[in-house]
Amino acid sequence: MVTTKAKTIFKSDMNSDIQARLTPSINNKGHLVLGECDCYDLVKEFGTPLYALDQQYIEYMSLALVNTAKKEYPNSLICYASKAMCCKALYQLVSRLGLGVDVASGGELYTAIIAGVDPNKIYVHGNAKTVAELSECLVADVHAVVIDSLDEIETLNNLALNHGKIQGVLVRVNPGVEAHTHEYIQTAKVDSKFGFSVANGTAKQAINVVNNKQNLKLLGLHCHIGSQIFDTTAFELAVDKMTDFMVELKNNFKIEIEELNMGGGFGVIYTDEDKPLKPEIYVRNIVGKLKECIEKKSIKPPRLILEPGRSIVGEAGITLYNVTTVKEIPNVRKYIAVNGGMFENPRHALYQSKYTATLALKANEPKTETVTIAGKCCESGDILARDLKLQRAEKGDVLAVLSTGAYNYSMASNYNRNLIPPVILCNNGKAKYIVKPQTYEDLVARDEDL
Ligand code: LLP
Repeated sequence: MVTTKAKTIFKSDMNSDIQARLTPSINNKGHLVLGECDCYDLVKEFGTPLYALDQQYIEYMSLALVNTAKKEYPNSLICYASKAMCCKALYQLVSRLGLGVDVASGGELYTAIIAGVDPNKIYVHGNAKTVAELSECLVADVHAVVIDSLDEIETLNNLALNHGKIQGVLVRVNPGVEAHTHEYIQTAKVDSKFGFSVANGTAKQAINVVNNKQNLKLLGLHCHIGSQIFDTTAFELAVDKMTDFMVELKNNFKIEIEELNMGGGFGVIYTDEDKPLKPEIYVRNIVGKLKECIEKKSIKPPRLILEPGRSIVGEAGITLYNVTTVKEIPNVRKYIAVNGGMFENPRHALYQSKYTATLALKANEPKTETVTIAGKCCESGDILARDLKLQRAEKGDVLAVLSTGAYNYSMASNYNRNLIPPVILCNNGKAKYIVKPQTYEDLVARDEDL
């Protein structure tokens, strides 16, 4: 199949490395193609709205991260942050590629276990895990629970005692670095619902408490400095702070940290304003800084864990819609309304997120209009993207919103009792459901009569 690389979709000055990794492409019929599947065929077979993921892209990103980590720092593990997109098939795919996973709820843990993920590669997050969720961690034999509060230490230790187990834990630390895109701040801010602050001494206190618990084994430290980060300065600063803290623990408590988890946050392209680094560079720079700190501060080299979510699945995904209405308000705005909305992608409503879109069957036509994509939910905030460039759209056209693989399906709801769209995985010209369509029967399945 003849395809044009996605530069015509994301018109841009991106460098060729980034161009090369982009998905989807356009074929000689002017149709959008994902995983060698023509969107015309996808829509015919699976309908709309539809989440579609490119398997090869997920494999490419996963392996780029895993292989670089292995090469540069063999004692490392890349964990997929499954909050970005969680279903059985995705856990199976990333597990086969050698990744571990991080989960952030009992539901994600259950899905991971059912999918066959090795519990020894599971890290469990959450600032307010329930007693039931902590018990589930013990039953599942997860590698580590990431401790986020003093209360949790007590509860987990008691549960572990009842289970006759010693549970491995990391302590989530707030190192005083916050990052977003190219900007970061160094902060002594202690006001966060996550983790323990190094600045006010609570991190040290928490570690001391953990260390005195019979049924907990302190494995290491965790931090997560932010999301959609486009350079590694902030990560490097965080490595510096975390290793300083390791030195302090060694000197004060004779504790040697075995695992250092630096969280996720590698950026992706939503629009041509976004210029993330190659996955290899994120890993290489973080590892480089870690090696330098180990040497300079004479600390025992810890196992390094990274937890990217968005960068593994974000650009792998597109969402396909049918244009249901075109409404032009003269001199004000042109609305393209589709059969989706905030129930399947709440990101614009929540964060004013920007996207790139194209008409999937007219992808070669020039983008001559500036439009706003409206969803079908009964509230005016239900907008999918504002002021984006698009080909001239008509009722019945197929709209593709790009880079929707992360935090779309995973944040979907049944608002207005809309059905959450199915998810398909596309690879080598073949597509299959990895999440089947919901039905109206599903919607009422747990409803009880009065
Ligand atoms: N590890 C921890 C502890 C996290 O809290 C997160 C994301 C990650 C890893 C993965 O970060 P990533 O590589 O995906 O950036 N719903 C928001 C994103 C929230 C991210 C929360 N934590 C969005 O749609 O942009």
